[in-house]
Amino acid sequence: MHLSTVSINLLLLVIVLSVLSSTSESQQPTYLYHDCPNTTTFSINSTYQANRGTVLSSLSYNSTRGDGFYNTTAGSIPDTVYSLSLCRGDLCQACVTFATTDISQRCPNQTRAVVWLDECLLRYSDQYDTRINTSFPL
Ligand SMILES: *[C@@H]1O[C@H](CO)[C@@H](O)[C@H](O)[C@H]1NC(C)=O
Ligand SMILES: *[C@@H]1O[C@H](CO)[C@@H](O)[C@H](O)[C@H]1NC(C)=O
Ligand SMILES: *[C@@H]1O[C@H](CO)[C@@H](O)[C@H](O)[C@H]1NC(C)=O
Ligand SMILES: *[C@@H]1O[C@H](CO)[C@@H](O)[C@H](O)[C@H]1NC(C)=O
Ligand SMILES: *[C@@H]1O[C@H](CO)[C@@H](O)[C@H](O)[C@H]1NC(C)=O
Ligand SMILES: *[C@@H]1O[C@H](CO)[C@@H](O)[C@H](O)[C@H]1NC(C)=O
Repeated sequence: MHLSTVSINLLLLVIVLSVLSSTSESQQPTYLYHDCPNTTTFSINSTYQANRGTVLSSLSYNSTRGDGFYNTTAGSIPDTVYSLSLCRGDLCQACVTFATTDISQRCPNQTRAVVWLDECLLRYSDQYDTRINTSFPL
């Protein structure tokens, strides 16, 4: 009697822990694909890099405005950076925030880049183009 209460409690604990851990696993966005050709790159500490930082930060804060689609632009020609994000579900903001860090690491100095995760996509470019399915180079 006493023993079986203990084992039921242990069983419940195991169930709760496994639910919790599967929830936190599913909240980690899953990387699917990225592309950033080396054919156009920018210099470290350039105006273009600063503008890229501005749009990435803006996407990470504002991606949930609108209906899953958000676009923003920073800087003036020739250093203008156009960017957009597309996301769905509860994980929109978390996914886009993850994507901004991820794309900066995968594409440290590429002028045009796109990254796909399971819950969102993010791209930036020196070319204005809001089509989400454009392949590179533009
Ligand atoms: C761009 O160059 C980096 C470093 O040389 C390399 O790791 C990466 O695979 C290249 N990207 C493409 C799309 O060729
Ligand atoms: C871009 O980054 C790659 C890898 O870090 C480096 O080899 C290349 O020289 C960089 N290009 C420019 C223009 O900074
Ligand atoms: C870029 O700027 C940072 C901070 O101002 C500086 O520490 C770094 O040396 C610079 N890098 C290059 C390659 O100019
Ligand atoms: C988010 O969007 C608002 C309205 O367009 C803008 O004023 C604000 O600067 C944006 N936030 C960031 C971090 O860019
Ligand atoms: C966002 O995209 C729309 C077209 O979908 C365009 O009219 C608008 O100028 C873009 N805004 C920015 C800030 O890039
Ligand atoms: C991209 O989307 C446009 C409009 O939805 C479509 O006409 C075009 O065929 C698509 N391109 C690719 C490569 O899927």
